[in-house]
Amino acid sequence: MPYEQKPLACNPAAVTGISKNAIVSHYESNYAGAVMRLNAIEAQLAELDWTKAPALVINGLKREQMMAMNSVLLHEVFFDSLGASKASRGLVARMDVDFGGPAAWKAQFAAMGKALGGSSGWVVLAWSPHDGKLVNTSSTDCAGNVAGAVPLLTLDMYEHSYHADFGAKADLYVDVFMNNLNLFAASKRLAAVAGL
Ligand SMILES: [Fe+2]
Repeated sequence: MPYEQKPLACNPAAVTGISKNAIVSHYESNYAGAVMRLNAIEAQLAELDWTKAPALVINGLKREQMMAMNSVLLHEVFFDSLGASKASRGLVARMDVDFGGPAAWKAQFAAMGKALGGSSGWVVLAWSPHDGKLVNTSSTDCAGNVAGAVPLLTLDMYEHSYHADFGAKADLYVDVFMNNLNLFAASKRLAAVAGL
């Protein structure tokens, strides 16, 4: 069954400092493109003769499948990460334990975003069931997150996410993003996966 686009999770009018055009274009071009790419890869995998396909083809398709699956998922969480709101007590309590508090978490997450400025990739706040803790991860592509960890909040650091509004000023984009955190959405994800 083909993957389908999810509706845009945020209300662009409620996001301060990032234009509606940039958000909608990001959703319609990049997110929708990832869904289409994933379906194209899945179609190729469905046609593959696994007994005869060269390792190069299998490895290439499976890597592209993972990149596209993660791109779809991370974008869906990214749009749901926009729209300022408060964290639940459960999320705050875990941030206290795992980062030394929400302010310390925020400083670390923003620094990781800025460290990817001029490059590309994702910064992710995730819940790792394996370790029973929150973790901030970053990578320069869509394939670098902790295995089994569930993204709660994501920051897209690909240039397409900020160039229209901020040009090369990735640091400014990160600061604006951090002022729009939908921590209530992240709290709901944490409650769903960890019961916190
Ligand atoms: Fe993106």
